[in-house]
Amino acid sequence: MRLKDKVAVVTGSGSGIGEATAKRLAAEGAAVVVVDLNQEGANRVADEIRKAGGTADVLHANVGSPQELENMIRFATDKFGRLDILHNNAIRLYTGRVGEMSLEHWRKAVDIGLTSYWYATRCALQVMVGQRKGAIINTGSVSGLAGDYGLGAYNAIKAGVINLTRATAIEYARKGIRCNAVCPGAILTPPILKSRRSQPELARQTEAAIPMGRYGEPIEIANVVLFLASDEASYVNGTCIVADGGLTAHTGIPSVAGSGPDW
Ligand SMILES: NC(=O)c1ccc[n+]([C@@H]2O[C@H](COP(=O)([O-])OP(=O)(O)OC[C@H]3O[C@@H](n4cnc5c(N)ncnc54)[C@H](O)[C@@H]3O)[C@@H](O)[C@H]2O)c1
Repeated sequence: MRLKDKVAVVTGSGSGIGEATAKRLAAEGAAVVVVDLNQEGANRVADEIRKAGGTADVLHANVGSPQELENMIRFATDKFGRLDILHNNAIRLYTGRVGEMSLEHWRKAVDIGLTSYWYATRCALQVMVGQRKGAIINTGSVSGLAGDYGLGAYNAIKAGVINLTRATAIEYARKGIRCNAVCPGAILTPPILKSRRSQPELARQTEAAIPMGRYGEPIEIANVVLFLASDEASYVNGTCIVADGGLTAHTGIPSVAGSGPDW
């Protein structure tokens, strides 16, 4: 068990990458607080963790509310006595061109996808600094490393998350805290599965753009988070691990030497 006696909080863990991470951390011995706005999803995930022999508790919370984030960290320490791992992962996605997006959507995107990561980190640090140990993992994205058409707000918050990760890492490194990010590529979580069904041509083009020729599975991101959360990553700090099947290794320029599956 790589996380025996550790306590983890995972936001947005009622679905997708957060769900896979909560289950993976619990399978390695961590007591996990499953935090989500979607109570049904959070209850299901916690039930599945318990049925598999793990320890989980549910907190129905909106990460867009600073009070609820304060409560989230207090909930974990009241229940389990400490906090070792915080995985900031929840987002609300707003699409739209930079020149057309509404101020309201921009603000909501930033509140939920960036400000909440900072504020949860701030609250967690108060506990972790006292323990002189802790691991914070933020879900970034390849969309924080380059731009996407129609996802300007998302691009901005994910770039912000990546640099918040670095700033946190350097400021708290000497206090025993590590902070890292995982940057997934296209991962088959419920929103992506839905868009794959409704836009099959977009899905085909996305797969073709990924050197490995396929979308990733949530567990393939959860495994990276597990590594970053564990003591095996004891000298890994302030980094962003890209897990994208090779997507960002490519300039985007088509092959000059042939194409197709044999390539
Ligand atoms: N799926 C991908 O292809 C992909 C790629 C790169 C990065 N990511 C990142 O992974 C993370 C998880 O995305 P996912 O694809 O698993 O999505 P998902 O929709 O499956 O899960 C997100 C969860 O967050 C919860 N949530 C949303 N707003 C919330 C709020 N205000 N308070 C609490 N919970 C809230 C939702 O209810 C949902 O359960 C996000 O940060 C996303 O940007 C995903």
